[in-house]
Amino acid sequence: MNPYEIKKDFPVLEDITLTYLDTAASSLKPNIVLDTMDEYYKKYGVNVHRGVYNISFIATEKYEASRNKVATFINSRFDEVVFTRGASSALNLVASSYGLNNLTKDDEIIVSELEHHSHVLPWQNVSNITGAKLIYVPLNKEGRITIENFKKVLSNKTKFVALNHVSNVMGYIAPIKEIIALAHEKGAKVSIDAAQSAPHTKIDVKDLDCDFLAFSGHKMLGPTGIGVLYGKKDLLQGMPPIEFGGDMNDNVEKFAASWKDTPYKFETGTPPIAEAIGLGAAIDYITNIGLNEIAKHEKELKDYTVEKMKQIGDIEIYNPTSETGIISFNIKGVHPHDAITFFDGDNICMRAGHHCAQLVIKWLEVVATLRVSIYLYNTKEDCDKFVESLKNARDFFKKMGF
Ligand code: ALA
Repeated sequence: MNPYEIKKDFPVLEDITLTYLDTAASSLKPNIVLDTMDEYYKKYGVNVHRGVYNISFIATEKYEASRNKVATFINSRFDEVVFTRGASSALNLVASSYGLNNLTKDDEIIVSELEHHSHVLPWQNVSNITGAKLIYVPLNKEGRITIENFKKVLSNKTKFVALNHVSNVMGYIAPIKEIIALAHEKGAKVSIDAAQSAPHTKIDVKDLDCDFLAFSGHKMLGPTGIGVLYGKKDLLQGMPPIEFGGDMNDNVEKFAASWKDTPYKFETGTPPIAEAIGLGAAIDYITNIGLNEIAKHEKELKDYTVEKMKQIGDIEIYNPTSETGIISFNIKGVHPHDAITFFDGDNICMRAGHHCAQLVIKWLEVVATLRVSIYLYNTKEDCDKFVESLKNARDFFKKMGF
């Protein structure tokens, strides 16, 4: 793959002074995604599943074709793909529907300090309501979830495991396949937050054998406002909806109603039609380039950048061994919110903060981190510009006596 050619597909990058290193927060969108959504609005921008006229049939066909693209992308069945508002909604759906209806005070839920808030707060809520106990996998010295540590917390009481595939702060890939197999031996169900992995790594839900898996469109070149919940058919079929309204119902009586089969019973109201179609275009774009190529490119650039960062001095890198394109770090003695203004001054987009993952920030014993995240449109020159800016920032703060 050629990132210099790829860059040309992204209108935001027409501003050649801009360096975008914040894909873990949200990726940029290529022209094909924008054009596909534009085409929906301009040529057949009407509702789905309702209209008995040609352009509504076209909209429905394109919306459902996107579901099919997602299913192929993750190797699931078509009816195991639920469109949601984002990864957070998808993860909340599992906790609010499966969790609240299946867990009791004698059960345990395994989570980790590496979770994004969207994968720990819904389970805190389940714990508060049902009395089920939240158990944290101890992280190893590097801050990783390991099989060894997972075995320490897995027990006959474990009923649910909610873990990330790739941490949005540390960029580590968790050994989820083995974790899922171990959890299943105890009869527990497993939900995987794949928001940071689906854009970068091949996901095969059949091979992983996960019960639930969620990701969002906007981190993988697609639009905002669309996410995916994968769930095993029999589980989704047995779960109650958590939102009620049009299109999700079958027969409605005054005091009772019945629901459509999954996935439709979870998609009430007018769904994010343009967004689903845009996500389909993003999946085509990524598939054409190849996830293996993308992952290799990100890892090479990340290793290159980390080596250069190490040469600067006074830089604390929290995840130098990460397998993905995420680098979390600080300039020693400098608050990341002070440092970030320096990068912004150089028109470098990156993130400072707790990254909606306060537990790992507390585990690191810092107030926040700076974070660079690399994707398919980044080049060595982007990384060189960032390293130069980092060096200047370090020199500036050092001179100021930090
Ligand atoms: N979860 C996103 C991030 O890591 C917003 O920045």
